[in-house]
Amino acid sequence: PRLDLGLDTNELMRRLPLFVELGDDMRARVRQLLRPVFVLPRSVIFRAGDKGDGVYFISSGAVEVRIEDRRIRLGRGDFFGEMALLDHRPRSAEIAALGYCQLLFLDAGDFRRLIGGDETLLHKFETIARTRAAQNRSA
Ligand code: CMP
Repeated sequence: PRLDLGLDTNELMRRLPLFVELGDDMRARVRQLLRPVFVLPRSVIFRAGDKGDGVYFISSGAVEVRIEDRRIRLGRGDFFGEMALLDHRPRSAEIAALGYCQLLFLDAGDFRRLIGGDETLLHKFETIARTRAAQNRSA
């Protein structure tokens, strides 16, 4: 039998609404840029204050956003790490895996090129980032 530690990128992308909505050409382009990352329960993916090196999309599992004394859960279909890149700031929070997670990583350069060439996509990331920033300010 074949030992499959991870699902292929295509399969992982199918779980992310953001990618499912893309046209075929764009989806094929993005697929080349995504790197599957498997993380173990409780591992810290990055810490507040770190330099933003890319964006992570959650194909399975859940993570916890730790911002001051607050804990926000993100799960399948969600993404994180967009704020540092959009705002040119360090990471605003620590992210830790709540269980086994299958993530897709898009590095900062590729993320910038991608949103630079697709206004719809840029708008989607900006809308979520703005909502999150507002939530953090009011908490
Ligand atoms: P970034 O600042 O790069 O790194 C921490 C990430 O946590 C941030 O991007 C967002 O993706 C995420 N994040 C920050 N605040 C919230 C929030 N209120 N709700 C959900 N996710 C958040």
